[in-house]
Amino acid sequence: MTWQHAVVIGASGGIGKALADELEQRGTEVVRLSRSAEDAESHIDLQDEASIEAAAAWVAKGKAPDLILVATGYLHEQGEGPEKDWRQLSADHLARNFAINATGPALVAKHFLPLLRDDGRAGLAALSARVGSISDNRLGGWYGYRASKAALNMLIRTFSIELKRKKKNAFCIALHPGTVDTALSDPFQKNVPEGKLFSREHSAKKLLEVLEGCDADSTGRIFAWDGTEIAP
Ligand SMILES: NC(=O)c1ccc[n+]([C@@H]2O[C@H](COP(=O)([O-])OP(=O)(O)OC[C@H]3O[C@@H](n4cnc5c(N)ncnc54)[C@H](OP(=O)(O)O)[C@@H]3O)[C@@H](O)[C@H]2O)c1
Repeated sequence: MTWQHAVVIGASGGIGKALADELEQRGTEVVRLSRSAEDAESHIDLQDEASIEAAAAWVAKGKAPDLILVATGYLHEQGEGPEKDWRQLSADHLARNFAINATGPALVAKHFLPLLRDDGRAGLAALSARVGSISDNRLGGWYGYRASKAALNMLIRTFSIELKRKKKNAFCIALHPGTVDTALSDPFQKNVPEGKLFSREHSAKKLLEVLEGCDADSTGRIFAWDGTEIAP
């Protein structure tokens, strides 16, 4: 079943844009929101709650969405990247990871979950990452990114419990998109085994396939691009 009205937050990003394009090709009406959007209505900055609230108020004027995708994220910027060694930890870098990867999506859920349609299947999915799984962490490193994605996974689970009480048909999940050829992964792609680096379009198609199978029973869980569940 095709989604009718979707909102993609982070629609300027590699995976976010591919998700919005793929949804539109399938006949879904898509509202694209991003930090770099030039028109005021489509602008959303996850580090500014007023902009999240304003974007939600604007979306609320239209048709109730049945799909909300949070495709924003942060791994590195201006030479500051994920920590390989605990000596590289900095309060600023940790705070930035938490602000964009955990607090921001939580504020999006706060303002956008109430907009989800309530008369049929509907859901919010946030792009997380397999490295946010605590039980799967064997390599170490990437302290801020891992910890902020683990926090995101916990927030999604917590939202899902309240959502069950408030909208019985709705779900709220986290998704791992695979390793995808975008600006976020660009500096780390040389270590990716042959054939394991997805195009944005491939990842978007696989994620939408997973979402097709999601309903209220999927809520609170973390799924990879191939539909397998990731342990927290
Ligand atoms: N690529 C991978 O291999 C991979 C693997 C695992 C998980 N993921 C996850 O997938 C998601 C999408 O990543 P991507 O690869 O598509 O990265 P990307 O191309 O770098 O896109 C990142 C997006 O996040 C937005 N963003 C960053 N900070 C923001 C803020 N403060 N407010 C609003 N938007 C903000 C960017 O907006 P601007 O355009 O305005 O900068 C951009 O739209 C992320 O959550 C990432 O952790 C990616």
